[in-house]
Amino acid sequence: MAHLRIPSEDRVIDDADAIRAFLLPHGIHYDRWPVAGRIDGDASQEEILAAYEPEVTALKERGGYITADVVSVTPEVPNLQDMLDKFNKEHRHAEDEVRFIVKGRGIFYIHPENGDPVYSIEVEEGDLINVPAGTKHWFDLCADRCIRAIRLFKEKAGWTPLYTGDEIASGYQPLCFGPNYLPNKLPPIAQPVTIAA
Ligand SMILES: [Fe+2]
Repeated sequence: MAHLRIPSEDRVIDDADAIRAFLLPHGIHYDRWPVAGRIDGDASQEEILAAYEPEVTALKERGGYITADVVSVTPEVPNLQDMLDKFNKEHRHAEDEVRFIVKGRGIFYIHPENGDPVYSIEVEEGDLINVPAGTKHWFDLCADRCIRAIRLFKEKAGWTPLYTGDEIASGYQPLCFGPNYLPNKLPPIAQPVTIAA
C-alpha cells in the first residue's frame, strides 16, 4: 500500500482510494493490482511478465504502450549510487513513467506546475503508478535499496531524464516509512567516544 506525504502540510494519506482521488487532478494514475499468490518477486522477468499479462495487456491498450520489461535494483548493482543520482534530481520525461512494483519500495516526489506543494508517493509491492510525460518529479529508493518493477514504454528513449536544473530535490529526504527510512542526506551521527582510563 502506498503512502502519500505532503511535507509542507505535515500530512500523510495512506488509503488507496484517497491517494487515487488526490492524484487524479494532477493527472497521475494510481492503482493496485492483486499480488497475493501471483508470483515470487524474485522470479525471472519472463515469469513476472507472464504472471501479470492480463493487467499489462490492458494497460498497454489503454495507454498506447508498446513494450514492457522488468527492472531490478539491489544494493549489489555496480555503481548503484551513480544510477540513483540520475533520477534523484528534478526532471521530466518525454513519455509517461509507468511502474508496477513487484518487490521492494521506492519514492516519487512530484512538483506540481500549478503551485501546489511538493508531495511524495512511496510505492511498494502491488502499486501501479503512472507519472505523465512532462511532470516535474524525482525518484529515490528507501534504505533497503531494493526495487523490482514492471515498466511500460511507448519508446524506451522517452525515458531519458530531461533535467529542469532546479535544485529543489536536495531539500527533501527520501523519507520512507518503517525501518527502511534512509537518512542519507542527514548529517552523520556522532559516534560514542571511549576515553581510556
Ligand atoms: Fe523519472
